[in-house]
Amino acid sequence: MMIPVKTSIVLIFLLLSVVVYASPPLEISREKVKLQFFIDEQGRPVYAVLFNGRDVVKPSALGFMLETDSLFYKNFSLVNVDRKVVDETWKPVWGECSTIRNNYEQLTVHLKHGSGKLLDIVFRVFADGVGFRYEFPRQTGLVYFVVKEECTQFHLAGNHKAFWIPGDFDTNEYAYTTSLLSEVNNAPVVQAATDIAVRTVTDSLAVQTPLMMKTADGLYINIHEAALLNYPAMQLHVDKKEFILTSTLVPDACNNKAYLHAPAHTPWRTLLVSDKAADILASKTILNLNDPPASPNLSWIKPMKFVGVWWEMQTGKSTWNYSDYADSTNANGQLIPNGRHGANTANVKRYIDFAAKNKIGGVLVEGWDRGWEDWFGNWKENVFDFVTPYPDFDVKEITEYARSKGVTMIMHHETSGSATNYERQLDTAFRFMQQFGYPAVKTGYVGRIVPRGEHHDGQWMVNHYERVLQQGMRYHVMVDAHEPPRPTGLQRTYPNFMACEAARGNEYHAFSNGNPPDHETVLPFTRLMGGPMDYTPGIFKLKGYVPGMPDRSVHSTLTKQLALYVTLFSPVEMAADLPENYEAKPDAFQFIKDVPVDWDTTRILEAEPGDYITIARKGKGTNNWFVGAITDEHARTTTLLLNFLEKGKKYKATLYEDGVGANWKTDPEAYSIRTLLVDSNTKLKLSLAAGGGTAISLMQIEQ
Ligand code: NOJ
Ligand code: CA
Repeated sequence: MMIPVKTSIVLIFLLLSVVVYASPPLEISREKVKLQFFIDEQGRPVYAVLFNGRDVVKPSALGFMLETDSLFYKNFSLVNVDRKVVDETWKPVWGECSTIRNNYEQLTVHLKHGSGKLLDIVFRVFADGVGFRYEFPRQTGLVYFVVKEECTQFHLAGNHKAFWIPGDFDTNEYAYTTSLLSEVNNAPVVQAATDIAVRTVTDSLAVQTPLMMKTADGLYINIHEAALLNYPAMQLHVDKKEFILTSTLVPDACNNKAYLHAPAHTPWRTLLVSDKAADILASKTILNLNDPPASPNLSWIKPMKFVGVWWEMQTGKSTWNYSDYADSTNANGQLIPNGRHGANTANVKRYIDFAAKNKIGGVLVEGWDRGWEDWFGNWKENVFDFVTPYPDFDVKEITEYARSKGVTMIMHHETSGSATNYERQLDTAFRFMQQFGYPAVKTGYVGRIVPRGEHHDGQWMVNHYERVLQQGMRYHVMVDAHEPPRPTGLQRTYPNFMACEAARGNEYHAFSNGNPPDHETVLPFTRLMGGPMDYTPGIFKLKGYVPGMPDRSVHSTLTKQLALYVTLFSPVEMAADLPENYEAKPDAFQFIKDVPVDWDTTRILEAEPGDYITIARKGKGTNNWFVGAITDEHARTTTLLLNFLEKGKKYKATLYEDGVGANWKTDPEAYSIRTLLVDSNTKLKLSLAAGGGTAISLMQIEQ
């Protein structure tokens, strides 16, 4: 008989509330972080985490409910232990810094269950947190098996402040709620989020990871996972009285969680902890827990900025679809154009010209392929074929034009959630891209998933997204996935996984009430912990951009939009607004032209989740630095010490600042620009407007 998940959670908690140490705990540590492991008297594997002697995770249970063994979380004995210390450095293909240190102590506990089955748990402790995963060794008693639930717990030491979104199986596109753990209840949030196409939440106490928390005594804690492969995404059920978070896995169409074949392992469960918020943002632990890439030939992977025939559709100026209706055809069966189709050859050339003139590397075009008249909401399996352009989109002419201007075309594949159809077309679609010289694709999965009954964040789709990345590695295609599960550092293993969405992007300001002004101060602590986001910053016309909706606005000032290019890291950054809106403000657009998307060094100068972030980064292979400072709905002043600059060198600083009277609500477009000569001794006083930001370029002067 299957035990209902909630009942089993309660059961585990009741059992765990009387923790008895059956043996002295095993310990590993790095600097202030210590991890303990023991088997309690009921044979449950138990771990705890401490920071500087303070409880971060109190003794917490580990284990599983398997289809064939619902009690695979107790009655274990410790067979053997392995330990090692690793200290190495590696160089990412692209990223926030050019060298990454991977330093941890590892403890592997080899366990034997009462049934005779074997389970290993591998713990790694880093200076800023821990990672652990379950490994099922090769064994005769456990070969093919079904995971009904993973029972990992995080028994927190108090009622922490949490930054959370609902534990939804299909979307991460919610605004964050800031509340105490005791106040978590996602039901009203889910109900109100009518701007999100597909919502599937079965537990009102489930939250998504990365879950960012702050304790009353000033510790910052982040729980997430690393290397999510061949397994569903983990969400966390919140026990609001005891502050125990318990893993719940996204189910499949049969209400199973994972199908495994030993030897197999789960993703890493990660917990970062520090008394400085900046350390959470600087952490490389999630990346370090992912494997290096298999292929050494990665020179084809190139970070870039891009513009797109996109915001004009999002804001209703033009359409993705060529005709107004699928059956809008003439006597010859040809689609009748609606006259507003955005992806027409002339318009695309206009964007190519703009990109070439401003040295923006790429142009994305959406709505170029047939199918947009009836693509969404009907759970159809076959919508797009990814190779048939609309009659007004001349793919050959556009390719040649872009090539002649030195501009890279970015392909768009909206699957409308039909992953089966996309998998059937993938080879053909990537060959088509190769033929026409498209080295990058933005994919999309809007709508309910086909195979029907699967969820965006379940094991089947996790495998699908990986298959697309693998195929991309074969065809030399860089991928920017929209509507995937939130990332888990897989960009280390698949460096062609440039970015993804998996959160509420800037686009919500086009078709909904948008994002609160503190949204971008939370994102780096939550969604971005797992990898880069295609947030689409850089909107300059911040009000009145939707025809007929004069009050619709982006909840940000203009210079905050600039600062986001630094504070929201991605190796592919869109300059999302229309060319004409940039041409109207060429002085401010200069920052977008200058800012790199790949970095040698990153310094998190100030950070507080939900309030403010200031980051400085040095452009890869250059001596130039860029600073982004953003605030929430409150105005803020701060002093910026430029002591990260090279000593003895002079820099030309250009400050893009909120103008007099700037305010995200009343006057978002007021900005001012000043330049001055600075060096590493300079202190700059910054004034950020409510919902505002400052962006700074610091160009080293040749001496
Ligand atoms: C949602 C994506 O986030 C957006 O960028 C895209 O334009 C639409 N889907 C259509 O594919
Ligand atoms: Ca705030």
